[in-house]
Amino acid sequence: NRSFKIAPSILSADFANFGAECEAIEAQGADWVHVDVMDGHFVPNITFGPSTCAAIRPHIKTVMDVHLMIAPVDPYIDAFAKAGADVITAHVEAGPHIHRTMQAIRAAGAKAGVALNPGTPASSVEYLLDMVDLVCVMTVNPGFGGQKFIHSQVEKVRQLRAMIGDRPIHIEIDGGVDPTTAPLVAAAGADVLVAGSAVFRGGSVSNPAPYGANIKAI
Ligand code: DX5
Ligand code: ZN
Repeated sequence: NRSFKIAPSILSADFANFGAECEAIEAQGADWVHVDVMDGHFVPNITFGPSTCAAIRPHIKTVMDVHLMIAPVDPYIDAFAKAGADVITAHVEAGPHIHRTMQAIRAAGAKAGVALNPGTPASSVEYLLDMVDLVCVMTVNPGFGGQKFIHSQVEKVRQLRAMIGDRPIHIEIDGGVDPTTAPLVAAAGADVLVAGSAVFRGGSVSNPAPYGANIKAI
């Protein structure tokens, strides 16, 4: 009975088998499924878009947590909401109108998340706290799985937890989460931990048991 949810990132899954991978990680104990959308512009890597999200939606029973690493964001919000995203998270750094973006996500019927790159201070979301459901603290520079956890971000999590007070807002951690770093961010106040490489390593659709063991180990 840990104090946080685990949201495996399918960035570390087999891209030819997303449906089966989502079913496997849920069967192995995933609380949410984290879906990393990258555009090769906001971040130096490209993954997939709303049509892939729509295709995997029927294979996810729990929360589909869509992390948009794209700029601009606003023209695509409706498409990701229609694809079945439960949470849509956009980056503070992705454009000049993050407040409008958060309004648009809720208007589209999804929960609104705001993400902060490692170089962005906690204060950047101060005026958004009455209109978001989740704040995502990036503990790596976004773009790739398997990077090293940036320890300076633990203090940012602590600051955000204090700023949030009793509002019902999740603090999500994304990047470098493993059995060593998870306790640090959990103690600082995070309640949703994204993990890619630490969940998927050693397993596969035909041998999913390691996913379960990896999730338990976090
Ligand atoms: C990074 C992505 C993360 C990533 C995490 O740009 O947003 O979700 O997949 O991967 P790990 O857990 O391997 O750092
Ligand atoms: Zn992510």
